[in-house]
Amino acid sequence: MALLRIYHYPEKVLLEKALPVETIDETIIKLVNDMGETMFDAPGVGLAAPQVGESKRIIVYNPSPGASEEEEEELPQEFKAIINPEIIASSGSITSEGEACLSVPEFSSDVKRFETVTVRGLNLEGKKLEFDAQGILAVIMQHEIDHLDGILYIDRISALKRNMYKKKLKKRLQNN
Ligand code: CO
Repeated sequence: MALLRIYHYPEKVLLEKALPVETIDETIIKLVNDMGETMFDAPGVGLAAPQVGESKRIIVYNPSPGASEEEEEELPQEFKAIINPEIIASSGSITSEGEACLSVPEFSSDVKRFETVTVRGLNLEGKKLEFDAQGILAVIMQHEIDHLDGILYIDRISALKRNMYKKKLKKRLQNN
């Protein structure tokens, strides 16, 4: 396994629609395992393939994102992966407080999200899966699946807040 470079906004791969995975071969399985390792190392609770420079419809996530650090240490660091995930139903509304993204460093914002989503996709064995996600897990699903369509959470906040971030970023890039 290997740690992968995490791409940052506004790198192009993050702004593109990712391509569906046709065959789950050894290359894909290696990518998924590296993504899982990279996510836990960051640390993050979810990661989409475009964030490591691969324009493919793959996400990995921590299935128990609410666990405290003490519990995390006892739990084995296991991640789940979904190939070609899609949200096929959604309902309710929640505010995701202080949402953040490994590809949008040094920023966070509240984001309005659906409370419940139904996710469909394939597991690593190529078997169909479908499940309902609620709360934090529903937010992770919406955030990560958005990445596959070139959408970042800063696209889902007010223009005022988004411009605040862009100004901050411009300053940082000029100072480097
Ligand atoms: Co993200």
